Amino acid sequence: MSVLPQPLRTLWLNAEEELQVINQIVLPHKIQVETLKTTEEVFWAIKNMLVRGAPLIGATAAYGIWLAAKAAPAADWKNSLAQADAYLRDSRPTAVNLFICLDRMKTTWEQANNLAEAQSACRQEADAIVEEDIEICFQIGQHGLKIIEEIAARKNGEPVQILTHCNAGMMGCIRWGTISSPIYQALAKGIKLHVWVDETRPRNQGSKLTAWEFDQHGVPHSLIVDNAGGHLMQHQAVDMVLVGTDRTTRQGDVANKIGTYLKALAAKDNNIPFYVALPSTTIDWEIMDGLKEIPIEERDAEEVRFVDGLTPSGAYEKVRICPENTPARNYGFDVTPARLVTGLITERGYCSASQEGLEALFPEYKS
Ligand code: MRU
Repeated sequence: MSVLPQPLRTLWLNAEEELQVINQIVLPHKIQVETLKTTEEVFWAIKNMLVRGAPLIGATAAYGIWLAAKAAPAADWKNSLAQADAYLRDSRPTAVNLFICLDRMKTTWEQANNLAEAQSACRQEADAIVEEDIEICFQIGQHGLKIIEEIAARKNGEPVQILTHCNAGMMGCIRWGTISSPIYQALAKGIKLHVWVDETRPRNQGSKLTAWEFDQHGVPHSLIVDNAGGHLMQHQAVDMVLVGTDRTTRQGDVANKIGTYLKALAAKDNNIPFYVALPSTTIDWEIMDGLKEIPIEERDAEEVRFVDGLTPSGAYEKVRICPENTPARNYGFDVTPARLVTGLITERGYCSASQEGLEALFPEYKS
């Protein structure tokens, strides 16, 4: 992605060792890099979705702890880091990566003997989280590629039609993305494909981020309204659905952006495979039943009542799309039960959406 100052990453440290992120609120209209200097700025960036997407939220929070360590008073640094940890845990509730990364950071700083050691260990751990995500997403691409290849082999040269929801691409991760990694790798192998991109109301991660990202990478795609997927599936215009996840339970239920469940229902009714691409950092091994146990974020109703974008004259505007006093509710995620998921694509390979499937790939978490 040549448009970015640091090619192919959503988060990096600049020469002054300052945390840099791409502001995802203003994409695709502006490419704006932000410097996050404090834990409070990291919290704000996560909460307000300057950075979003499960792996990126986790990685950004990890650097938030590093920033807290850099600012901590020598006399009381452990207490200061404990406060930063609790504070960042409150930024968003659904993506488990946030909590897994903060747990990792906590283990790291708790083992340090002094502040200098904590600062250096926190930096190393945050860097490791970032590098691991890049490798994990690359491996997801390798495994997902096989599925795309199998479908392509049946299509007699016609493009493989993929439908996706939200943005589980590079913008939700550090580099490759989860659903976009197999897509980029398939394209690089010369496989013909086309992606139906759900706009993903109310924050429009599909139209703002996935469409932008695919445009940058030359992925053939068409933007569709969120409700079009069922119609396309009924008319054989979709070969596979491929989405990401914010939290996957031990039994293979997945929480993803609101509307994902409806896509899974439509896919089931039309015998279309529904795949979820996930780094193991989105598996919550502590819970089984996604419907009962995954906390679903409810965001500000104003996100539903207003839309924003560019006017024909090029001005950026926000407009209300309902009567002034219309109340709204804004549920951020829904849970797709494992029975509707054809399979999970992880960095260790492909498995059924089930406890047996996940534990076979990750035996270290066997119950
Ligand atoms: O509210 P968001 O934009 O953070 O929600 C993101 C999603 O639902 C993504 O699909 C998910 O995090 C996977 S990102 C690889």
